Amino acid sequence: MIIVSNRLPITVVKRKNELSFNASVGGLATGLCSVSSNALWVGWPGIAVERLNEEERGYIKTKLIKESCYPVLLTQRDVDLYYNGFCNKTIWPLFHYFTQYAVFDKKLWNAYRQVNESFCDVVLKIATKSAKPVIWIHDYHLMLLPRLVKETLPNAKVGFFLHIPFPSFEIFRLLPWRKEILRGLLGADLIGFHTRSYVKHFLETVYRILGYEHAHEAILLSNKKVKVAAFPMGIDPEKFTNALSDVKVQKEISKIRKKVGERKIILSIDRLDYTKGIPQRLEAFDLFLEKYPEFREKVTHILVGVPSRTRVEHYKLLKKRVDELVGKINGKYGTLGWVPLWYIYRFLQFQTLIALYHLADIALVTPLRDGMNLVAKEFIASKADSKGVLILSEMAGAAEELKEAIRINPYNKEETVEALRIALLMSEKEQVKRNKAMQKRLQRSNIKQ
Ligand code: F6P
Repeated sequence: MIIVSNRLPITVVKRKNELSFNASVGGLATGLCSVSSNALWVGWPGIAVERLNEEERGYIKTKLIKESCYPVLLTQRDVDLYYNGFCNKTIWPLFHYFTQYAVFDKKLWNAYRQVNESFCDVVLKIATKSAKPVIWIHDYHLMLLPRLVKETLPNAKVGFFLHIPFPSFEIFRLLPWRKEILRGLLGADLIGFHTRSYVKHFLETVYRILGYEHAHEAILLSNKKVKVAAFPMGIDPEKFTNALSDVKVQKEISKIRKKVGERKIILSIDRLDYTKGIPQRLEAFDLFLEKYPEFREKVTHILVGVPSRTRVEHYKLLKKRVDELVGKINGKYGTLGWVPLWYIYRFLQFQTLIALYHLADIALVTPLRDGMNLVAKEFIASKADSKGVLILSEMAGAAEELKEAIRINPYNKEETVEALRIALLMSEKEQVKRNKAMQKRLQRSNIKQ
Protein backbone atom coordinates (compact mmCIF):
# COMPACT_ATOMS: atom_id res chain seq x y z
CA MET A 1 0.00 0.00 0.00
CA ILE A 2 1.09 3.54 -0.71
CA ILE A 3 0.08 6.18 1.83
CA VAL A 4 0.10 9.75 0.53
CA SER A 5 -0.16 12.77 2.79
CA ASN A 6 1.09 16.34 2.66
CA ARG A 7 3.58 15.72 5.44
CA LEU A 8 5.71 12.64 5.86
CA PRO A 9 5.71 11.14 9.37
CA ILE A 10 9.30 12.43 9.57
CA THR A 11 9.98 16.17 9.39
CA VAL A 12 13.43 17.40 8.41
CA VAL A 13 14.70 20.42 10.32
CA LYS A 14 17.81 22.44 9.47
CA ARG A 15 19.36 24.55 12.22
CA LYS A 16 22.79 26.16 11.91
CA ASN A 17 23.55 23.90 8.93
CA GLU A 18 22.71 20.79 10.98
CA LEU A 19 19.98 18.48 9.68
CA SER A 20 17.76 16.59 12.11
CA PHE A 21 14.92 14.15 11.54
CA ASN A 22 11.97 14.58 13.91
CA ALA A 23 8.59 12.90 14.31
CA SER A 24 5.88 15.05 12.69
CA VAL A 25 3.20 16.56 14.91
CA GLY A 26 -0.56 16.37 14.42
CA GLY A 27 -3.30 13.81 14.33
CA LEU A 28 -2.52 12.38 10.92
CA ALA A 29 1.04 11.31 11.65
CA THR A 30 0.15 10.13 15.17
CA GLY A 31 -2.84 8.18 13.95
CA LEU A 32 -1.29 6.53 10.91
CA CYS A 33 2.09 5.61 12.36
CA SER A 34 0.53 2.57 14.04
CA VAL A 35 -0.78 1.19 10.72
CA SER A 36 1.96 2.19 8.31
CA SER A 37 4.60 -0.46 9.04
CA ASN A 38 4.21 -2.29 5.71
CA ALA A 39 3.39 0.72 3.60
CA LEU A 40 5.37 3.13 1.48
CA TRP A 41 4.70 6.75 2.37
CA VAL A 42 4.77 9.68 -0.07
CA GLY A 43 4.85 13.22 1.32
CA TRP A 44 6.67 16.48 1.98
CA PRO A 45 9.59 16.35 4.45
CA GLY A 46 8.67 19.80 5.83
CA ILE A 47 11.56 21.87 4.45
CA ALA A 48 11.78 24.07 1.33
CA VAL A 49 14.15 22.72 -1.29
CA GLU A 50 16.12 26.01 -1.51
CA ARG A 51 17.29 25.51 2.07
CA LEU A 52 19.19 22.38 1.04
CA ASN A 53 22.27 22.01 -1.10
CA GLU A 54 22.66 19.20 -3.64
CA GLU A 55 24.45 16.94 -1.20
CA GLU A 56 21.88 17.47 1.56
CA ARG A 57 19.03 16.66 -0.83
CA GLY A 58 20.66 13.37 -1.74
CA TYR A 59 21.34 12.56 1.91
CA ILE A 60 17.76 13.30 2.96
CA LYS A 61 16.35 11.23 0.12
CA THR A 62 18.48 8.19 0.94
CA LYS A 63 17.76 8.44 4.63
CA LEU A 64 14.00 8.79 4.11
CA ILE A 65 13.76 6.01 1.54
CA LYS A 66 15.40 3.68 4.06
CA GLU A 67 12.36 4.40 6.24
CA SER A 68 10.02 3.72 3.26
CA CYS A 69 9.33 7.46 2.91
CA TYR A 70 9.37 9.01 -0.58
CA PRO A 71 9.80 12.79 -0.43
CA VAL A 72 7.97 15.30 -2.59
CA LEU A 73 10.25 18.33 -2.70
CA LEU A 74 8.52 21.71 -2.53
CA THR A 75 10.01 25.09 -3.29
CA GLN A 76 9.61 28.06 -0.92
CA ARG A 77 7.02 29.42 -3.36
CA ASP A 78 5.04 26.15 -3.10
CA VAL A 79 5.24 26.29 0.66
CA ASP A 80 3.96 29.89 0.68
CA LEU A 81 1.20 29.54 -1.88
CA TYR A 82 0.13 25.91 -1.50
CA TYR A 83 0.81 24.92 2.15
CA ASN A 84 0.57 28.27 3.99
CA GLY A 85 -1.70 29.55 1.21
CA PHE A 86 -4.51 27.46 -0.25
CA CYS A 87 -4.31 24.69 2.38
CA ASN A 88 -4.08 26.82 5.49
CA LYS A 89 -5.57 30.16 4.45
CA THR A 90 -8.44 28.84 2.32
CA ILE A 91 -9.45 25.24 3.02
CA TRP A 92 -8.50 24.98 6.70
CA PRO A 93 -10.49 28.03 7.89
CA LEU A 94 -13.40 27.34 5.55
CA PHE A 95 -13.80 23.68 6.54
CA HIS A 96 -13.61 24.67 10.23
CA TYR A 97 -16.37 27.29 9.74
CA PHE A 98 -14.00 30.27 10.12
CA THR A 99 -15.36 31.81 6.93
CA GLN A 100 -14.14 35.26 7.95
CA TYR A 101 -10.51 33.99 7.81
CA ALA A 102 -10.80 32.25 4.42
CA VAL A 103 -8.86 33.81 1.55
CA PHE A 104 -10.07 33.14 -2.00
CA ASP A 105 -7.18 33.89 -4.35
CA LYS A 106 -6.60 32.36 -7.77
CA LYS A 107 -2.82 32.41 -7.32
CA LEU A 108 -3.16 30.14 -4.28
CA TRP A 109 -5.56 27.84 -6.11
CA ASN A 110 -3.16 27.50 -9.07
CA ALA A 111 -0.35 26.55 -6.68
CA TYR A 112 -2.61 23.94 -5.07
CA ARG A 113 -3.35 22.39 -8.46
CA GLN A 114 0.28 22.37 -9.45
CA VAL A 115 1.50 20.82 -6.16
CA ASN A 116 -1.19 18.11 -6.38
CA GLU A 117 0.30 17.30 -9.79
CA SER A 118 3.81 17.10 -8.30
CA PHE A 119 2.53 14.63 -5.69
CA CYS A 120 0.93 12.66 -8.51
CA ASP A 121 4.28 12.39 -10.33
CA VAL A 122 5.98 10.85 -7.28
CA VAL A 123 3.05 8.50 -6.61
CA LEU A 124 3.05 7.30 -10.22
CA LYS A 125 6.77 6.54 -10.16
CA ILE A 126 6.20 4.12 -7.27
CA ALA A 127 2.74 2.85 -8.12
CA THR A 128 3.50 1.80 -11.69
CA LYS A 129 5.77 -0.93 -10.27
CA SER A 130 2.66 -2.84 -9.17
CA ALA A 131 -0.13 -4.24 -11.42
CA LYS A 132 -2.90 -3.30 -8.99
CA PRO A 133 -1.60 -0.68 -6.62
CA VAL A 134 -3.53 0.34 -3.54
CA ILE A 135 -3.17 4.04 -2.86
CA TRP A 136 -4.50 5.71 0.27
CA ILE A 137 -4.56 9.50 0.02
CA HIS A 138 -4.96 11.68 3.11
CA ASP A 139 -6.39 15.03 3.95
CA TYR A 140 -7.38 18.39 2.58
CA HIS A 141 -4.00 19.18 1.02
CA LEU A 142 -4.51 16.56 -1.67
CA MET A 143 -8.15 16.67 -2.72
CA LEU A 144 -7.34 16.77 -6.45
CA LEU A 145 -5.03 13.79 -6.27
CA PRO A 146 -7.56 10.89 -6.40
CA ARG A 147 -8.72 11.97 -9.84
CA LEU A 148 -5.22 12.73 -11.10
CA VAL A 149 -4.01 9.26 -10.09
CA LYS A 150 -7.03 7.47 -11.52
CA GLU A 151 -6.65 9.20 -14.88
CA THR A 152 -3.28 7.51 -15.39
CA LEU A 153 -3.86 4.36 -13.35
CA PRO A 154 -7.50 3.33 -13.77
CA ASN A 155 -6.70 -0.08 -12.23
CA ALA A 156 -5.39 1.36 -8.99
CA LYS A 157 -7.58 1.09 -5.90
CA VAL A 158 -7.72 4.61 -4.55
CA GLY A 159 -8.98 5.54 -1.09
CA PHE A 160 -9.23 9.05 0.30
CA PHE A 161 -9.59 10.01 3.97
CA LEU A 162 -10.34 13.51 5.24
CA HIS A 163 -8.88 14.24 8.69
CA ILE A 164 -10.73 17.51 9.19
CA PRO A 165 -14.48 18.23 9.23
CA PHE A 166 -16.34 18.28 5.93
CA PRO A 167 -18.52 21.39 6.33
CA SER A 168 -22.19 21.77 5.57
CA PHE A 169 -23.23 22.62 1.99
CA GLU A 170 -23.90 26.27 2.91
CA ILE A 171 -20.24 26.70 3.89
CA PHE A 172 -18.64 24.55 1.18
CA ARG A 173 -20.58 26.34 -1.58
CA LEU A 174 -18.62 29.55 -0.84
CA LEU A 175 -15.50 28.02 -2.39
CA PRO A 176 -14.99 29.37 -5.93
CA TRP A 177 -13.36 26.04 -6.97
CA ARG A 178 -15.97 23.82 -5.33
CA LYS A 179 -16.71 21.76 -8.45
CA GLU A 180 -13.06 21.03 -9.18
CA ILE A 181 -12.48 19.92 -5.58
CA LEU A 182 -15.50 17.60 -5.59
CA ARG A 183 -14.51 16.10 -8.96
CA GLY A 184 -10.99 15.56 -7.66
CA LEU A 185 -12.29 13.66 -4.63
CA LEU A 186 -14.72 11.58 -6.69
CA GLY A 187 -11.74 10.07 -8.51
CA ALA A 188 -11.41 7.81 -5.43
CA ASP A 189 -13.17 4.45 -5.07
CA LEU A 190 -13.75 4.98 -1.37
CA ILE A 191 -13.98 8.25 0.54
CA GLY A 192 -13.78 8.20 4.34
CA PHE A 193 -14.62 10.76 6.98
CA HIS A 194 -14.32 10.72 10.77
CA THR A 195 -18.05 11.04 11.51
CA ARG A 196 -21.46 10.36 10.03
CA SER A 197 -22.25 14.09 10.07
CA TYR A 198 -19.35 14.78 7.69
CA VAL A 199 -20.56 11.97 5.42
CA LYS A 200 -24.03 13.51 5.36
CA HIS A 201 -22.61 16.94 4.53
CA PHE A 202 -20.51 15.50 1.72
CA LEU A 203 -23.35 13.52 0.13
CA GLU A 204 -25.66 16.51 0.21
CA THR A 205 -22.95 18.80 -1.19
CA VAL A 206 -22.14 16.47 -4.09
CA TYR A 207 -25.84 16.22 -4.94
CA ARG A 208 -26.50 19.95 -4.78
CA ILE A 209 -23.36 21.03 -6.61
CA LEU A 210 -22.79 18.24 -9.13
CA GLY A 211 -26.25 16.64 -9.18
CA TYR A 212 -25.04 13.06 -8.42
CA GLU A 213 -27.50 10.98 -6.42
CA HIS A 214 -26.48 8.54 -3.70
CA ALA A 215 -27.87 5.30 -2.35
CA HIS A 216 -26.64 3.12 0.54
CA GLU A 217 -23.63 5.36 1.15
CA ALA A 218 -22.44 5.23 -2.44
CA ILE A 219 -22.46 8.01 -5.01
CA LEU A 220 -23.63 6.91 -8.44
CA LEU A 221 -21.48 8.32 -11.23
CA SER A 222 -22.08 7.41 -14.88
CA ASN A 223 -19.13 4.98 -14.96
CA LYS A 224 -18.66 3.89 -11.34
CA LYS A 225 -19.86 3.93 -7.76
CA VAL A 226 -17.92 5.82 -5.10
CA LYS A 227 -18.37 4.43 -1.62
CA VAL A 228 -18.59 7.06 1.12
CA ALA A 229 -18.48 6.09 4.79
CA ALA A 230 -17.52 7.14 8.30
CA PHE A 231 -14.38 5.59 9.82
CA PRO A 232 -13.77 7.37 13.14
CA MET A 233 -10.02 7.29 13.59
CA GLY A 234 -8.99 5.25 16.61
CA ILE A 235 -5.74 4.99 18.52
CA ASP A 236 -3.59 2.12 19.73
CA PRO A 237 -4.62 2.10 23.43
CA GLU A 238 -1.87 -0.35 24.41
CA LYS A 239 0.81 2.03 23.22
CA PHE A 240 -0.35 4.38 25.98
CA THR A 241 -0.92 1.88 28.77
CA ASN A 242 2.33 0.00 28.07
CA ALA A 243 4.36 3.21 28.02
CA LEU A 244 3.59 3.72 31.70
CA SER A 245 6.03 1.03 32.71
CA ASP A 246 8.90 2.77 30.89
CA VAL A 247 11.56 3.97 33.36
CA LYS A 248 11.88 7.33 31.62
CA VAL A 249 8.13 7.90 31.95
CA GLN A 250 8.23 7.00 35.64
CA LYS A 251 11.07 9.50 36.14
CA GLU A 252 9.06 12.21 34.35
CA ILE A 253 6.05 11.41 36.52
CA SER A 254 7.94 11.86 39.79
CA LYS A 255 9.64 15.00 38.50
CA ILE A 256 6.35 16.68 37.57
CA ARG A 257 4.54 15.45 40.69
CA LYS A 258 7.26 16.94 42.88
CA LYS A 259 6.86 20.32 41.17
CA VAL A 260 3.05 20.38 41.24
CA GLY A 261 2.72 18.96 44.75
CA GLU A 262 -0.72 17.74 45.76
CA ARG A 263 -2.56 20.19 43.53
CA LYS A 264 -5.06 18.84 41.01
CA ILE A 265 -3.86 19.04 37.42
CA ILE A 266 -6.02 20.36 34.60
CA LEU A 267 -4.33 19.48 31.30
CA SER A 268 -4.75 20.83 27.76
CA ILE A 269 -2.61 19.83 24.79
CA ASP A 270 -3.13 21.22 21.30
CA ARG A 271 -1.33 22.48 18.27
CA LEU A 272 -1.51 26.25 18.69
CA ASP A 273 -4.41 26.64 16.28
CA TYR A 274 -7.35 29.06 16.37
CA THR A 275 -9.76 26.14 15.86
CA LYS A 276 -8.76 24.69 19.24
CA GLY A 277 -10.55 27.35 21.30
CA ILE A 278 -7.54 28.19 23.49
CA PRO A 279 -8.43 31.85 24.29
CA GLN A 280 -12.03 30.85 25.11
CA ARG A 281 -10.69 28.11 27.40
CA LEU A 282 -8.35 30.53 29.17
CA GLU A 283 -11.16 33.03 29.65
CA ALA A 284 -13.25 30.23 31.18
CA PHE A 285 -10.37 29.30 33.52
CA ASP A 286 -10.12 32.95 34.56
CA LEU A 287 -13.85 33.03 35.29
CA PHE A 288 -13.59 29.73 37.18
CA LEU A 289 -10.95 31.12 39.56
CA GLU A 290 -12.96 34.29 39.95
CA LYS A 291 -16.26 32.53 40.65
CA TYR A 292 -14.89 29.73 42.84
CA PRO A 293 -12.03 31.22 44.89
CA GLU A 294 -11.98 28.06 47.05
CA PHE A 295 -10.15 26.33 44.18
CA ARG A 296 -7.34 28.91 44.02
CA GLU A 297 -3.99 27.37 45.01
CA LYS A 298 -5.68 23.93 44.70
CA VAL A 299 -5.33 23.49 40.94
CA THR A 300 -2.61 23.88 38.31
CA HIS A 301 -3.62 24.24 34.69
CA ILE A 302 -0.90 22.87 32.40
CA LEU A 303 -1.41 24.26 28.92
CA VAL A 304 0.72 22.78 26.14
CA GLY A 305 0.60 24.65 22.82
CA VAL A 306 2.60 22.95 20.10
CA PRO A 307 3.91 25.54 17.58
CA SER A 308 2.10 25.19 14.27
CA ARG A 309 1.87 27.05 10.92
CA THR A 310 3.75 29.94 12.47
CA ARG A 311 4.00 31.88 9.20
CA VAL A 312 0.24 32.25 8.79
CA GLU A 313 -1.11 35.57 10.10
CA HIS A 314 -3.99 34.22 12.20
CA TYR A 315 -1.64 31.82 13.99
CA LYS A 316 0.70 34.69 14.85
CA LEU A 317 -2.23 36.68 16.23
CA LEU A 318 -3.38 33.68 18.25
CA LYS A 319 0.08 33.24 19.76
CA LYS A 320 0.04 36.87 20.88
CA ARG A 321 -3.44 36.54 22.39
CA VAL A 322 -2.53 33.35 24.29
CA ASP A 323 0.69 34.94 25.64
CA GLU A 324 -1.35 37.92 26.86
CA LEU A 325 -4.06 35.82 28.51
CA VAL A 326 -1.56 33.55 30.26
CA GLY A 327 0.27 36.60 31.62
CA LYS A 328 -2.98 38.22 32.68
CA ILE A 329 -4.29 35.17 34.56
CA ASN A 330 -1.00 34.40 36.29
CA GLY A 331 -0.63 38.05 37.27
CA LYS A 332 -4.20 38.26 38.57
CA TYR A 333 -4.30 35.09 40.70
CA GLY A 334 -0.70 33.93 41.16
CA THR A 335 0.91 34.03 44.61
CA LEU A 336 4.48 33.55 45.78
CA GLY A 337 3.89 29.82 46.10
CA TRP A 338 1.45 29.22 43.25
CA VAL A 339 1.44 29.75 39.46
CA PRO A 340 -2.10 28.95 38.24
CA LEU A 341 -1.10 28.35 34.62
CA TRP A 342 1.94 26.54 33.31
CA TYR A 343 2.23 27.36 29.66
CA ILE A 344 4.55 25.27 27.51
CA TYR A 345 4.95 26.44 23.90
CA ARG A 346 6.88 23.53 22.46
CA PHE A 347 6.67 20.01 21.02
CA LEU A 348 6.61 17.42 23.83
CA GLN A 349 8.54 14.16 23.88
CA PHE A 350 6.35 11.05 24.06
CA GLN A 351 7.55 10.23 27.62
CA THR A 352 6.52 13.66 28.91
CA LEU A 353 3.19 13.40 27.14
CA ILE A 354 2.45 10.05 28.78
CA ALA A 355 3.53 11.37 32.17
CA LEU A 356 1.17 14.33 31.81
CA TYR A 357 -1.74 12.14 30.71
CA HIS A 358 -1.08 9.91 33.70
CA LEU A 359 -0.89 12.75 36.21
CA ALA A 360 -3.77 14.87 34.93
CA ASP A 361 -6.95 14.83 36.98
CA ILE A 362 -8.83 16.60 34.22
CA ALA A 363 -8.26 16.88 30.48
CA LEU A 364 -9.83 20.06 29.17
CA VAL A 365 -10.31 19.58 25.42
CA THR A 366 -12.36 22.44 24.02
CA PRO A 367 -11.94 22.93 20.26
CA LEU A 368 -14.36 25.25 18.50
CA ARG A 369 -14.32 22.73 15.63
CA ASP A 370 -12.19 19.62 15.25
CA GLY A 371 -12.26 16.74 12.76
CA MET A 372 -11.68 14.12 15.49
CA ASN A 373 -9.23 15.06 18.34
CA LEU A 374 -6.98 12.22 19.37
CA VAL A 375 -5.79 13.93 22.58
CA ALA A 376 -9.18 13.16 24.15
CA LYS A 377 -8.80 9.48 23.23
CA GLU A 378 -5.16 9.29 24.32
CA PHE A 379 -6.01 10.75 27.75
CA ILE A 380 -8.68 8.11 28.35
CA ALA A 381 -6.41 5.31 27.07
CA SER A 382 -3.59 6.38 29.40
CA LYS A 383 -5.70 6.01 32.54
CA ALA A 384 -4.69 2.55 33.72
CA ASP A 385 -6.66 3.01 36.98
CA SER A 386 -9.56 4.60 35.05
CA LYS A 387 -9.45 7.72 37.22
CA GLY A 388 -9.62 11.22 35.73
CA VAL A 389 -12.26 13.33 34.03
CA LEU A 390 -12.49 14.32 30.39
CA ILE A 391 -14.20 17.60 29.56
CA LEU A 392 -14.81 17.57 25.84
CA SER A 393 -16.20 20.06 23.34
CA GLU A 394 -19.26 18.81 21.50
CA MET A 395 -17.70 20.34 18.35
CA ALA A 396 -14.96 17.66 18.25
CA GLY A 397 -15.56 14.60 16.09
CA ALA A 398 -14.50 12.48 19.10
CA ALA A 399 -17.60 13.66 21.02
CA GLU A 400 -19.77 11.32 18.89
CA GLU A 401 -17.92 8.36 20.47
CA LEU A 402 -16.85 9.63 23.91
CA LYS A 403 -20.34 10.08 25.25
CA GLU A 404 -19.42 9.66 28.93
CA ALA A 405 -17.19 12.75 28.91
CA ILE A 406 -18.58 15.98 30.34
CA ARG A 407 -19.55 17.61 27.08
CA ILE A 408 -19.61 21.37 26.69
CA ASN A 409 -20.22 24.05 24.09
CA PRO A 410 -16.81 25.82 24.03
CA TYR A 411 -18.46 29.17 23.25
CA ASN A 412 -20.39 28.91 26.51
CA LYS A 413 -17.90 30.07 29.14
CA GLU A 414 -20.28 29.51 32.08
CA GLU A 415 -20.83 25.91 30.97
CA THR A 416 -17.06 25.28 30.88
CA VAL A 417 -16.72 26.81 34.35
CA GLU A 418 -19.43 24.52 35.75
CA ALA A 419 -17.88 21.52 33.98
CA LEU A 420 -14.58 22.25 35.74
CA ARG A 421 -16.30 22.40 39.12
CA ILE A 422 -18.24 19.18 38.50
CA ALA A 423 -15.07 17.45 37.30
CA LEU A 424 -13.08 18.53 40.36
CA LEU A 425 -15.79 17.29 42.69
CA MET A 426 -16.66 14.08 40.84
CA SER A 427 -16.41 10.92 42.95
CA GLU A 428 -13.78 8.35 41.98
CA LYS A 429 -16.51 5.77 41.53
CA GLU A 430 -18.23 7.93 38.92
CA GLN A 431 -14.91 8.67 37.16
CA VAL A 432 -14.10 4.98 36.88
CA LYS A 433 -17.58 4.12 35.62
CA ARG A 434 -17.41 6.71 32.84
CA ASN A 435 -13.81 5.96 31.84
CA LYS A 436 -14.27 2.20 31.76
CA ALA A 437 -17.13 2.62 29.27
CA MET A 438 -15.00 4.87 27.05
CA GLN A 439 -11.95 2.59 27.34
CA LYS A 440 -14.04 -0.35 26.19
CA ARG A 441 -15.17 1.61 23.15
CA LEU A 442 -11.59 2.68 22.36
CA GLN A 443 -10.54 -0.98 22.44
CA ARG A 444 -13.25 -1.84 19.92
CA SER A 445 -12.22 0.93 17.52
CA ASN A 446 -8.49 0.25 17.97
CA ILE A 447 -6.66 1.66 14.91
CA LYS A 448 -4.99 -1.70 14.29
CA GLN A 449 -8.30 -3.50 13.64
O1 F6P B 1 -5.37 17.05 11.27
C1 F6P B 1 -5.18 17.94 10.24
C2 F6P B 1 -3.74 18.20 9.93
O2 F6P B 1 -3.54 19.06 8.89
C3 F6P B 1 -3.02 16.93 9.61
O3 F6P B 1 -2.98 16.67 8.23
C4 F6P B 1 -1.69 17.15 10.23
O4 F6P B 1 -1.28 15.98 10.84
C5 F6P B 1 -1.90 18.18 11.32
O5 F6P B 1 -3.10 18.82 11.03
C6 F6P B 1 -0.73 19.13 11.50
O6 F6P B 1 -0.69 20.09 10.49
P1 F6P B 1 0.59 20.57 9.72
O7 F6P B 1 1.02 19.44 8.86
O8 F6P B 1 0.12 21.76 8.97
O9 F6P B 1 1.62 20.88 10.74
